[in-house]
Amino acid sequence: MANLDFRFDDYTEKFSSKMLAELRSYALEHPFEGPVSIEIGANRGKFLTELAERHPEKTYLGIEIRRSFAGISHRRLKRHGCSNADCIHADANLAIPILFDDGQIDEFFLLYPDPWWKSRHHKRRIIQESFLDLMERKMPKGGKVWIRTDVGPLADEMRDTLILHDAFEPIDVSDYPQEPLPWTNREQHCFEAGIPAHLVYFERV
Ligand SMILES: C[S@@+](CC[C@H](N)C(=O)[O-])C[C@H]1O[C@@H](n2cnc3c(N)ncnc32)[C@H](O)[C@@H]1O
Repeated sequence: MANLDFRFDDYTEKFSSKMLAELRSYALEHPFEGPVSIEIGANRGKFLTELAERHPEKTYLGIEIRRSFAGISHRRLKRHGCSNADCIHADANLAIPILFDDGQIDEFFLLYPDPWWKSRHHKRRIIQESFLDLMERKMPKGGKVWIRTDVGPLADEMRDTLILHDAFEPIDVSDYPQEPLPWTNREQHCFEAGIPAHLVYFERV
């Protein structure tokens, strides 16, 4: 079978320069002031919209790598009158360094991330040491990381990576049951299919 890795990387190079230009324009047009909660992989924006409606006093940004979903989320937020929230089309790895000052992200949601099952694709998983170094810089002490997934081995791997990092400590999940946060589309599906959720909740220390 053909090895598509090179072609994929070649494609991402071109894709990234366009995305970086879009991100720089967005940063100039929409500078964030004060703390921001971000959701990586907002998909169609169900979770983000419900949370932004509940907390009009807070600022939310969804980051979604698929352009069509980012557009759907953006329009959903506008339709619901959420002037405190937006969703952009970007790779979170590129967007976070450009859009935020150090210590500005006080909450970070990663809900039902893509598992990237094949080992040669593991590098595309969000929770990696280098990304946690970035989060350490961009989050204040006391900032929260809320991760949920239906993939047990992925939850274990993310938990292990976070535990090994000096800047993050686990939060006791019994203090944070599932109900207070809205459900994502994937979560709703899992609940209806009887698939359990794994909670990976950490605090920036
Ligand atoms: C499995 S879906 C889950 C979507 C939603 N959070 C839910 O629970 O229904 C994962 C989402 O993350 C997005 N995604 C994957 N990698 C990303 C990245 N590096 N930056 C931003 N979004 C990403 C995908 O396009 C997809 O919409």
